[in-house]
Amino acid sequence: MKINVKKGAIDKTAADAIILTMFQEEKELPADVAAIDARCGGIIGEVIKNGDISGKPSQVSVVYIKGKVPAKRIVLVGLGKRNEINPEKIREAFARAMQSLRNLNVKEAATVIDFSIMPNAKDKLIQAIAEGASLGLYQYNNYKTVGLEDVREIKQLNIVAGEKDYLLIDAEIKKAKIITDAVCMVRDLVSSPANDMTPSIMAINAMEITTRRNISCRILNREKMAEFGMNALLGVAAGSCEEPKFIILEYWGGKKSVAPIVLVGKGLTFDSGGISIKPAEKMDEMKSDMSGGAAVLGALAAAADLKLRQNIIGLIPATENMPSGTALKPGDIVKSYSGKTIEIVNTDAEGRLILADALTYAWKYKPAAIIDLATLTGACIIALGDDVIGMLGNDEGLKRQIAEAAKASGELVWELPLWEMYSEPIKSDIADYKNSGGRAGSTITAAAFLSKFVGDYPWVHLDIAGPAWRNKEKPYIPKGASGVGVRLIIEFLKNYPGK
Ligand code: BES
Ligand code: MN
Ligand code: ZN
Repeated sequence: MKINVKKGAIDKTAADAIILTMFQEEKELPADVAAIDARCGGIIGEVIKNGDISGKPSQVSVVYIKGKVPAKRIVLVGLGKRNEINPEKIREAFARAMQSLRNLNVKEAATVIDFSIMPNAKDKLIQAIAEGASLGLYQYNNYKTVGLEDVREIKQLNIVAGEKDYLLIDAEIKKAKIITDAVCMVRDLVSSPANDMTPSIMAINAMEITTRRNISCRILNREKMAEFGMNALLGVAAGSCEEPKFIILEYWGGKKSVAPIVLVGKGLTFDSGGISIKPAEKMDEMKSDMSGGAAVLGALAAAADLKLRQNIIGLIPATENMPSGTALKPGDIVKSYSGKTIEIVNTDAEGRLILADALTYAWKYKPAAIIDLATLTGACIIALGDDVIGMLGNDEGLKRQIAEAAKASGELVWELPLWEMYSEPIKSDIADYKNSGGRAGSTITAAAFLSKFVGDYPWVHLDIAGPAWRNKEKPYIPKGASGVGVRLIIEFLKNYPGK
């Protein structure tokens, strides 16, 4: 869907539908609503007075008007109570409003922004409206051939504005479009089945990002990884017929002399568990085990499009984890790229193996910070549920900045402790470490394992196992791939000091 800003007045705008917002428990109609209401004989005010519309969060009501307004319908969407408003409520409300219009088969809608909603954060208000409207309409139909004629699509949303706000709105919706395009790209990559999203295909998608300015890509193949000694990554790949790829994206948007931020994303294009094979039920969802890698691709694409003045490196170890005669076996020991040895006690704890080599590779850049995103542990879903990212790390400042970006973006994080005692369970009798510390606290022991490969660099690990893949929809996140991570990382990068 396209979002445009148009100069004009909403009560004189022709449209299939006009979206207007309202707060709960407010007697007086917002100015724009009142203007339209006055022209249609007070019908909106009457419906509200009758209690049909209350303004509860994301409540959508369609009012058909027959008056002196050129629009066909008014769609009133509730924002809840004024003193409880935040960007998340706005994203949700606009997602629901747009979905209602899509159900009505509306092709073009209009809206107007009531800046009294968040008078001190006009930019954030516009961003939230654009994000909610776009992300809520996402649908993945790449593999459908039957019933396509029933697929409905809204083509355009026009934001009607006066002279004063036109430029601000225009600038903000352009930025929001870059971000939502990246989120939807990530959703597409993750939704794509593993037979069409192999490590090689992921690498091609990474190469395609480099049509932007200041961004380049290098792919290491199996031979090169062997030369470097990336045996933890190669070990995970050993059971698969698909060649692993180590994807390196570099975006130099700042001064070359400034140390970059390295983003590392787990790129398991399919995780069967390997010899420690997973149960059949829900194994299909493990095509989403490359969500961290996809988020890194999306973040770099968006950073380049937004022309952020930062240096950002994306590292994505991409492989399948498959059982076969050549696969890693429990008890095997590999020498990682760092030189440290790892005893494989469970081949299903593969994410930390490929991340170990990628985190070691990050050292080449003497990074200002390392952030990894990974669908690392099922235990993180047990601990925090489907909506929240587990955060662990070694640097208080970096964690705080991520937590602030999380609040602003609505991609919530919650910190788990990374105390020294969590390194006990991953000690091996015969190697330096083992790759699993068992079930107890396994989100944390997994992070403890990663911490052995980050040296002294400021580092944050984001376990996105919960939110990456949804079994239930949310207002602006459909079932399936969420595209989580892009909005969080971009918000973090925008505010990162030293630009
Ligand atoms: N990719 C999985 C984690 C996962 C599970 C993500 C379910 C999303 C949904 C990871 O590779 C894995 O298998 N982890 C194991 C670790 C265990 C063997 C120590 C887990 O969480 O069970
Ligand atoms: Mn696994
Ligand atoms: Zn995995």
